[in-house]
Amino acid sequence: MLFGITHIFASFCVFCYIKVEYTYFMKKSISTFLKHTAQDKVNRSANPAIVRASTIFFKSMQELLNHKHVSKNKRIDYYDYGRAGTQTTTQLQNIIVELEKAHHVFLTPSGFAAVALSIMSICRPGDEIIVTDSVYFPTRMLTSKLLKEFGVKAQFYNPDDLEDLKNKITKNTKMIFVENPGSNTFEFQDLSQIIKLAKKNNIITALDNTWGTPLFLRPLDIGFDMSISSATKYFSGHSDVMVGTLAVNKKVFSKVNFYNRVSGYRASPDDAYLVIRGLRTLDVRLEKHQRNTKEVIKFLIKQKKIKEVLYPHKKGTKNYKNWKKYYTGSTGLVGLVIKSKSKNSVYKFVNKLELFGIGYSWGGFESLAVYQDIQREFKKYNDKNLHIVRLHIGLEDPKDLILDLKQSLKNIK
Ligand SMILES: Cc1ncc(COP(=O)(O)O)c(C=O)c1O
Repeated sequence: MLFGITHIFASFCVFCYIKVEYTYFMKKSISTFLKHTAQDKVNRSANPAIVRASTIFFKSMQELLNHKHVSKNKRIDYYDYGRAGTQTTTQLQNIIVELEKAHHVFLTPSGFAAVALSIMSICRPGDEIIVTDSVYFPTRMLTSKLLKEFGVKAQFYNPDDLEDLKNKITKNTKMIFVENPGSNTFEFQDLSQIIKLAKKNNIITALDNTWGTPLFLRPLDIGFDMSISSATKYFSGHSDVMVGTLAVNKKVFSKVNFYNRVSGYRASPDDAYLVIRGLRTLDVRLEKHQRNTKEVIKFLIKQKKIKEVLYPHKKGTKNYKNWKKYYTGSTGLVGLVIKSKSKNSVYKFVNKLELFGIGYSWGGFESLAVYQDIQREFKKYNDKNLHIVRLHIGLEDPKDLILDLKQSLKNIK
């Protein structure tokens, strides 16, 4: 009898133990987390409900007023009006909080709005901001043109030269805005050296991490105050939605929260739902983008018409070392440096690709190509016979992509 009870008790303990282990495992693995998160327990559905709302109801005036007194320095897990979010947008915020290991995540109507939110929350008249020279072009326009009108000075630093960044720091420097790798020219920087400089000089830092995603690099973990992702790209992955995410630490939370509240940014519940749906397969898609890109690069590096492939593929180079130091993987965006006396023939190469759509954005399931005119201070490719074509390697069969590139490269004269 005693044996029987002990046996049942022991079995129960083993069951508990396994259960605890399983919960622990789910917490550890991002792949598992992305499949099991954001379920709708009330409606017993694998996916969250799309809650659209402007008005949010309260039980009483007292409840409404108490709501407004939720601690200013805490993550906001509540919603009091549609602009502040609904259950659906909160589900997305909570997923990104987990991926970024952030204090809080703000959702914006586009990736660029997340860039703008990060900068406009921090910079005030008399401040200076230092920005990666190869930053996404609208970020360059915002910092060099708009901020100037508000009395904020922007300087651009050479992403290949940390000393240049160091020399640009003054007592007025408020923020360093980093994009890694740089748009179109794909420089990988020594990020912890930037953080060291910033911390020494009490400067706030932001990283546009759209290329790497928090699956391959978590900016807040290495000391950035803010991490930006255009969820339009890999998070959603299906080229049908625009959303941005700004993940922040405790230090900058209230400044960003204030600017966010008074600027009217929000992401729609329908768009948030589509991003959640995309995130379910983010890990699987990134793995395939990475594998396909490596296959295509093996072909590209052998082509005489291509002078350089801009991607962290060449061991021993500074870019490769910096990529390896910080990232656990690489994604599908690649730059090609093409040497040709005829710009029109490079256009023709792009035009005659059959499987690569011509257009902006990237991170979706499909391959894309676009000729990029580079506008920079540091003129690395300052030669009229050098051209940059940006490719996004999609989820097609890489053998087909290679055949397509092969037939169209013939057009380059
Ligand atoms: C690096 C980078 N950051 C931000 C953005 C802006 O994102 P969105 O298109 O969602 O506004 C882009 C868009 O191409 C980008 O390439």
